[in-house]
Amino acid sequence: MSASRVGTAFLNKAKLPVSGLHGAKCKHSKAKSTSKRPPTKPPRTRANPQIDDLHLKPKPKSMSPRLMTFFGVSFLGIGTYCGYLYASYKREVAYSKTLEVSKDVSDRYNKTARQFDADVDMSEYLMGMGSKRRDLIQMARGNVLEVSCGTGRNLSYYELPGKKSRPELEGCRTVTFVDLSPQMVEITREKFQKLYPGIKRVAFWVKNAGEVIPPAAWGKEAGKEASYYDTIVQTMGICSMPDPVETLRHLGSITEPEKGRILLLEHGRSYYGWLNNILDNTAAAHADRHGCWWNRDIGEIVRESGLEIVEEKRWHFGTTWRYVLRPRRKDTGGS
Ligand SMILES: C[S@@+](CC[C@H](N)C(=O)[O-])C[C@H]1O[C@@H](n2cnc3c(N)ncnc32)[C@H](O)[C@@H]1O
Repeated sequence: MSASRVGTAFLNKAKLPVSGLHGAKCKHSKAKSTSKRPPTKPPRTRANPQIDDLHLKPKPKSMSPRLMTFFGVSFLGIGTYCGYLYASYKREVAYSKTLEVSKDVSDRYNKTARQFDADVDMSEYLMGMGSKRRDLIQMARGNVLEVSCGTGRNLSYYELPGKKSRPELEGCRTVTFVDLSPQMVEITREKFQKLYPGIKRVAFWVKNAGEVIPPAAWGKEAGKEASYYDTIVQTMGICSMPDPVETLRHLGSITEPEKGRILLLEHGRSYYGWLNNILDNTAAAHADRHGCWWNRDIGEIVRESGLEIVEEKRWHFGTTWRYVLRPRRKDTGGS
């Protein structure tokens, strides 16, 4: 008997179908399929199951060609401009290193006076300097001295006698405008006459701020030994003076000791080292061209002057400084 015949005989004896257990399972499933349920389709299978998902997920929106062009052109423009700025900065640093510039650069304003306003208008507008000037100048009252007046950029903010005054302000009795540059003083005078025709209590002097003396008559009128200004104003002047500490000390000595105030709006060093490095690296070239040392530490200069700080504020990364100062009171031991 062959081996296969022996196997078949054994299975017959056991009364099992030749197909064995598998056959029994099929019988069972056949019984189920006779129920009334509709026949279910076998699930579709794909080689890559993710292909099915692609139909279900929402398509990601693509950027419109217009927008892509806009961004492309903008990035290119900004990149080119940054490159240009960097190249100019490098050139300016290299040029600065070749210069030996004297501390006193104030004579530059004689040449640049007529274009000064055009040079600074845009940057002052972008920095919102108009409101900062206005807020400072509207504190001025009594006999006022403005030193380093330049082209008279503060003129329109004064509360002058004859100008419609705001009732809460005492306003200005007299105003004296002083600058070292005759060209600058002339521009202030022209602007003033256009802005305030007929207002008389005003004077224009070509003078060093460190040598101004108030009229002796004021002291006599006020029953005091000396004459003083009630308010002294200076905006963007410290950067141009050869000796700002001495000048501030002098201004302190001619400010009314009790209620008198010195109002400063200046520009100089920043809070940030990286910005100070830029200012330092290009200071010589800037001073030589514009007559302004833009890297001065205004806070240090004010402290050295010995004047008392009533208020200090800073803006624009700390480069714009505003001070309200007063002469140091005798009992506090200052100069
Ligand atoms: C940067 S300009 C500022 C002008 C103006 N105050 C303003 O806010 O636009 C500096 C001015 O200070 C003047 N200046 C420099 N040293 C001075 C001094 N020792 N006495 C008076 N004016 C001086 C210059 O002639 C120049 O007009």
